[in-house]
Amino acid sequence: MDLHAELRALLLAPRGGQAERVQQLQERAAKRPHPEEWNSRFGDNSLFQAWTSSPLMQSLYAKNTQIIRPMLDQTPNWRVVEIGGGDGRIWDLLRPDDQGEVLLIDPQPEVHLQVASRMPSGVTLHSVVDLAQAPAAWGQADLVLSSLTLHHVAGLDAEQRAEVGLQGPGKLEVLRRAKAALAERQGMLVLNEASVHCEIDLPPNDPELIDNLIDSYLRRCTQALLDGIEQDPGNPMAERWLSVAHRWCLDQITVGSLPLAERDVYELDVWRWMELLPRAGFRVESRQFSDPYRLFCQYLCR
Ligand SMILES: C[S@@+](CC[C@H](N)C(=O)[O-])C[C@H]1O[C@@H](n2cnc3c(N)ncnc32)[C@H](O)[C@@H]1O
Repeated sequence: MDLHAELRALLLAPRGGQAERVQQLQERAAKRPHPEEWNSRFGDNSLFQAWTSSPLMQSLYAKNTQIIRPMLDQTPNWRVVEIGGGDGRIWDLLRPDDQGEVLLIDPQPEVHLQVASRMPSGVTLHSVVDLAQAPAAWGQADLVLSSLTLHHVAGLDAEQRAEVGLQGPGKLEVLRRAKAALAERQGMLVLNEASVHCEIDLPPNDPELIDNLIDSYLRRCTQALLDGIEQDPGNPMAERWLSVAHRWCLDQITVGSLPLAERDVYELDVWRWMELLPRAGFRVESRQFSDPYRLFCQYLCR
């Protein structure tokens, strides 16, 4: 099958019929190669490596670099807390003579290895694996960086989690920890998240939830990946970008049918982030989309 052409046809299909067509295409495409679970591998030849090389993600890193690099240059012995490291691609912004400290919070051991491999000798990396257990370990920071990670934390706040039988901190409580970690050095939070509402207040199979997921994964993310392939067909990553569109976009839409605790993506749209960030004590100094698809939004907060 020509998956690229099938995805293009799906994007052109009437919006009302897309959910059914997504399911049909998932079934027809099931035997394609690269069956790799979302956020399961981060090293060489992983889909994650292809993902972070895509124009969509490169433009996000460029926008973050524009903010973070001058801040590091102006701050002797800087200290950063990063929530969710991926393959550490953002740390390509570091220079060989940089001096500082990074505390990485991430549950995946491979992520810690990937991030460590990008640290110059003058930057010390500390590791924490559990966001829910970590408040005392955060210390003070000049920057908290949370890029495409807070959406893994279910619930606006602990109260909303409790309503659906989940314990522990929600997004609000994590953001409050970030605010506390930034207090002494008057540091800043850089937050990147997709603008799409798929939080736990939308129950499994809710038609609004399914359409929101299709909007984000198909109409914006798949569109961006296909455009990237068409603009640079000779790119060695192009075949894997198509696999990202398949395994992480098309297939990921099924999370809308999973029980709440298994959904693993609990995104908010811009307006919900703009309501939540002040509740955690943050002032949003600026916000901008990092791509022309208006998928990923960057919030700078103090
Ligand atoms: C989509 S990746 C983003 C990586 C990187 N920040 C970037 O922008 O490329 C999400 C990262 O969050 C991590 N993650 C997932 N759940 C997490 C949690 N509860 N606490 C901290 N990190 C988490 C994953 O292991 C992965 O490294």
